[in-house]
Amino acid sequence: MADMEVKINGIKFRNPVLTAAGPNVMDAKHMIGAFNGGVGGIVSKTVSVKPARDRRPTIRKTVCRGLVNCETWSELSLEEMVEELVKAKEKIDVPLIVSVGYTPLDMKKLAPVIEKEVQPDAIEFSTHYVGKDIEPLLAVAKALRESTELPIWMKISPNTPNIERLAVEASAYVDGFVAINSFGPVLDFDIETFEPVLGSEYGQGWLSGQAILPIALRIVYQIASVQSKPVIGVGGVEKGKDAIKFLMVGASAVQICSAAIRYGHSIYGKVASEIEKWLDEHGYSSVEEIRNLYREGLKKRRIYEGVPVMFVDEEKCTGCTLCVRACMHGALYMDNKIAKVIPENCIGCGYCQDMCNFDAMYLIDRQ
Ligand SMILES: Cc1cc2nc3c(=O)[nH]c(=O)nc-3n(C[C@H](O)[C@H](O)[C@H](O)COP(=O)(O)O)c2cc1C
Repeated sequence: MADMEVKINGIKFRNPVLTAAGPNVMDAKHMIGAFNGGVGGIVSKTVSVKPARDRRPTIRKTVCRGLVNCETWSELSLEEMVEELVKAKEKIDVPLIVSVGYTPLDMKKLAPVIEKEVQPDAIEFSTHYVGKDIEPLLAVAKALRESTELPIWMKISPNTPNIERLAVEASAYVDGFVAINSFGPVLDFDIETFEPVLGSEYGQGWLSGQAILPIALRIVYQIASVQSKPVIGVGGVEKGKDAIKFLMVGASAVQICSAAIRYGHSIYGKVASEIEKWLDEHGYSSVEEIRNLYREGLKKRRIYEGVPVMFVDEEKCTGCTLCVRACMHGALYMDNKIAKVIPENCIGCGYCQDMCNFDAMYLIDRQ
């Protein structure tokens, strides 16, 4: 059985699947639920100096297996959240990381209270409402660094324009990065009633879930490429294979929010056991062994000479015609129930390969 334990800033996690800040960890009951669901570590819902007051509805389903939400941070006061965290800590036997937000002054007020009253393993701070400029983001990191001895993790928002520069400069203050927060603002509504799905000002909100997974992968890759502090990947993890992608682009662990809202607390243990199964099946003995494999793989990646052309493995082609319908370039046709390529029309885009359910298509260099 593969070793699932991971160590981040010296903190041991029984597996690399953590909670992400959200309603899935809004109070002690939910944090204990996550622990019982097999989570490797708990990051709590973001608390700030003032409780949030969010207009309802706050969480809705949208396209691409996504969620939209207009939750800001916890509606509990600091005192109430501390009480919940202390209660949870008594019952959970995994590391506890407290999420806080937002300004430098907030950090100075929140961190000493949390460190003293809760004694968590680390503090994560959300940059979601701090803006896009690097200087204010660094000021928050610096303020938190000056306010606690605990390891601190900076949670990055996907809208931050120069993520690599931010990661390099912030690594002077923080012990790790978490990427990403939800994406947006976004909008969705009902075309019959014109009702926005969310209760915010004009229905705007934040997108999370499977729809943002590729954005998160790119950002984790970027952060892990330019500095050496650990990165925790979050955005769209629903399955072991999603988590494995994050680990391969350089993440030390993953977090889950939307899938826990959708499927319940058992999702953490399910994703962890799917990772373990995959590692076992592929002959890896630990999570650590697959970290950064994508980066390694990139070095050996196939580079085509000029424009490649699609090849059809006729033994595997079932004549389903999906590839022909998908080709925008008129480069495929059916001949006797087998897909054939017109090389001069094929621009090597690769899309038909993804439409084929039978692994019958792949790109090759032109003869
Ligand atoms: C309803 C909801 C509330 C959230 N609240 C917070 C929060 O309080 N603090 C925070 O840093 N992120 C918050 N997030 C963002 C998640 O922690 C996570 O970064 C994002 O949703 C992407 O992960 P996912 O696709 O697994 O949900 C929230 C997300 C959702 C859906």
